[in-house]
Amino acid sequence: MTKRTDDHSICLISESAEATERVGSLLGSLLCPGDIVVLDGDLGAGKTVLTRGMARGLGLTEDVASPTYTLVFEHLAEDSAATDLFHFDVYRLNDADEFLMSGLDEYFDRGGVCVIEWGRKIFDALPASVIYVELSGVGPEREVCLRFPEGDEERCARLRELLSHSEGIRV
Ligand SMILES: Nc1ncnc2c1ncn2[C@@H]1O[C@H](COP(=O)(O)OP(=O)(O)O)[C@@H](O)[C@H]1O
Ligand SMILES: [Mg+2]
Repeated sequence: MTKRTDDHSICLISESAEATERVGSLLGSLLCPGDIVVLDGDLGAGKTVLTRGMARGLGLTEDVASPTYTLVFEHLAEDSAATDLFHFDVYRLNDADEFLMSGLDEYFDRGGVCVIEWGRKIFDALPASVIYVELSGVGPEREVCLRFPEGDEERCARLRELLSHSEGIRV
């Protein structure tokens, strides 16, 4: 991914795990049923931390853990103000075919938000319009780059505005 900020991408520095969770929460508050968020970045980069924030932003209260032994965790909304979250970790899959053979793409049409850790591995199985997030770094500071699909510039601008007022985040 090109590391530049334009009208459909944002690159920021998160100064702590709490700040990364805040990024997730702000992003989550702008997500709609049917959105797919692909998370890329090495082990320990902060993909699950970011997802925990997204769950909060979607109005969910359940804790988000790493789906290490299952490929997908379902977090179902308990009231109409919240949105379902389907949290995938496809690290153990080899490719898009394996994903499709398991029928996991059926989740894309279930009216929730899908967040896919290691989504790059199954990129060919994904629809064209995904929100792509790449996390990098190992110390307390992490770089987070978000890219919205073509035509989604308004949501990107709203997120940038929210992030610019947030503690521990340097846009
Ligand atoms: N700025 C930061 N953003 C995210 N995580 C951070 C940050 N600084 C330290 N950490 C730590 O890095 C780890 C990230 O773990 P996790 O989210 O499970 O990674 P992944 O899901 O990408 O493998 C956590 O232990 C978290 O506390
Ligand atoms: Mg993880």
